[in-house]
Amino acid sequence: MDYDVVILGAGAAGLMCAAQCGGRVLLVDHAKKPGEKIRISGGGRCNFTNTDTTAANYLSANPHFAKSALARYTPWDFVSLVSEHGIAWHEKTLGQLFCDGSAQQIVDMLTGLVARAGADLRLQTSASGVERVAGGFALSLTRGDRTQRISTRALVLATGGKSIPKMGASGFAYEIARQFDLPMVETRPALVPLTFPPERFAGLPGTALPTRVTADTTGFDEAMLFTHRGLSGPAILQASSYWHEGEAISVNLTPGTDAFAALRRLRGEVGRRSLHRALDTLIPAKLSDHLAGEWQLAGNLGDQSDKALAELAARLGNWTLTPAGSEGYRTAEVTLGGISTDALSSKDMQVKDVPGLYAIGECVDVTGWLGGYNFQWAWASAMAAARAL
Ligand code: FDA
Repeated sequence: MDYDVVILGAGAAGLMCAAQCGGRVLLVDHAKKPGEKIRISGGGRCNFTNTDTTAANYLSANPHFAKSALARYTPWDFVSLVSEHGIAWHEKTLGQLFCDGSAQQIVDMLTGLVARAGADLRLQTSASGVERVAGGFALSLTRGDRTQRISTRALVLATGGKSIPKMGASGFAYEIARQFDLPMVETRPALVPLTFPPERFAGLPGTALPTRVTADTTGFDEAMLFTHRGLSGPAILQASSYWHEGEAISVNLTPGTDAFAALRRLRGEVGRRSLHRALDTLIPAKLSDHLAGEWQLAGNLGDQSDKALAELAARLGNWTLTPAGSEGYRTAEVTLGGISTDALSSKDMQVKDVPGLYAIGECVDVTGWLGGYNFQWAWASAMAAARAL
């Protein structure tokens, strides 16, 4: 065998795995540089983990699968690694940890660890012709016009999901999984803006407000942003992972506020104010303008009965919207679904029926919420495999 371990994909999971497993290791990526998604993540500061990580922060057909790997490599283990390398970090909100400096520091740390581990990193190299041979696997590696056939004892799929094809996402791991007859969970874009017909939110692009957005019974209290294509912002991205084509989402425009009490109080103070302008005390004025038209609000506050104010408050708490679609893999931060966890050992991410074949990171049907959870899964699943390799 030419190698003990060949890892396909030098992203978050592949770099971590190559950095941590011993032996003759080859790390292959078709991109020009390793860890490109790390570099652009978190607005260039990389939200590298979330200290509140539990399996409940992930979507998977098997909600228990991620528990073992997450327990054996915790957010604090990654924080220790980052701190040991002198990378300064801060907590932004809700346990989300970011670099003080730049996401490139995380890429540099990981590529430094890969080099220190003695692993061979080959970029601009694509893999094909993967097959099982006695004692391992054989595959072809192509760089430019040169193709080389190599053999390895273990093969790790770490090529991520389909999100952002412009950055090299390829769905390659799924092809190999299909070749080995592994069960798959249907994939779809997640953590993605939702689209609406162009005229739906006319005049609102750029407006943001705190909301609670619910899709399929799961709600998120975060900011929502109107865009030229529809809705975005963390609340929408989070809810998009639970949204299915054709379904409606519910937007609470006044989360944490008793809108009925607020409107009644205002009626007592400024009864002659129009209902339309009264909304400005609860939501941005541009959105009041929009909703006044959509809901045909007329009259002054003083003209409204308690029942009418209660109905308006209820509408504010449950603005029901049916997206036309999502922006798709072009802008999705992650891919839902992928290689079914039924095929894998939760202890070491090895394919149960194909000894020596492993799958880690985003290509597996484990998808985190927004907020550092996806990188934590990449680190933890990579470590689970690395310990066994
Ligand atoms: P990843 O996509 O990182 O790596 C896969 C690698 O495989 C790539 O280097 C690719 O070039 C390579 N590859 C693909 N096909 C190949 C082929 N056929 N042959 C060879 N190589 C191939 N998460 C988080 O926790 N915090 C954050 O702040 C962010 N921010 C963020 C911003 C943006 C814009 C995006 C798109 C995503 C995020 N994420 C995130 C999500 C996070 O980036 C993602 O979950 C991890 O990078 C997944 O790690 P993987 O190693 O599994 O795939």
